[in-house]
Amino acid sequence: MDDRDRDLLKKMLTIRTAGLDELDCIRESWTSLKKMHDRLDRLTGKEPSRKSWAERRLELLNKADTSSLFEVVAHDDGRVAGYCFSTVDFQGVGEIDSLYISRTLRGLGHGSDLVRNALSWFEHHECGEIRLWVHPANVEAVRFYWRFGFFTHPEMVRLSNRSPVPKVQPA
Ligand SMILES: CC(C)(COP(=O)(O)OP(=O)(O)OC[C@H]1O[C@@H](n2cnc3c(N)ncnc32)[C@H](O)[C@@H]1OP(=O)(O)O)[C@@H](O)C(=O)NCCC(=O)NCCS
Repeated sequence: MDDRDRDLLKKMLTIRTAGLDELDCIRESWTSLKKMHDRLDRLTGKEPSRKSWAERRLELLNKADTSSLFEVVAHDDGRVAGYCFSTVDFQGVGEIDSLYISRTLRGLGHGSDLVRNALSWFEHHECGEIRLWVHPANVEAVRFYWRFGFFTHPEMVRLSNRSPVPKVQPA
């Protein structure tokens, strides 16, 4: 695909803020993300999680209790091509909870746009720390997040772009 095709394709998609009552519109995207994580789990000898969309949906809604930013990447006809769900908890910690772009539409800049929007939103909320969890075998995603200043916590396979939270002391 040349630059002109990429620009055209990019223009066919828009990023918009969605309401929590629209959460089901990302069900298909989340299911693809879950399948990807299941594959990575099997590759690394882990049992894939049995989490259903209904459970994940409830988790996201509960997390959104304090404050959330839910953005979707959509086609003209409303079909969803990706999303980013971010929250700030009651301690002021920001988290990118879930991020996904459809496989055939990757590399057009939407993932970066969503992360940049989330980072501005965290800044607006004066978050002291911003974190996210990435599957340890999802090397591309880890590299992707490094670009935004996130760094890894090897023991916890966590990415954070601020100072690490205190470790839990053994009892
Ligand atoms: C990670 C992800 C959201 C990036 O979205 P995107 O729209 O492709 O991001 P961008 O177009 O802004 O790409 C930024 C760069 O990351 C690279 N990249 C990162 N992950 C990539 C992937 N899986 N496939 C292709 N390119 C990827 C691109 O090459 C691009 O580099 P470039 O600017 O030099 O061309 C997307 O690849 C994705 O949904 N992956 C699967 C789900 C996932 O891993 N989610 C995050 C962890 S839960």
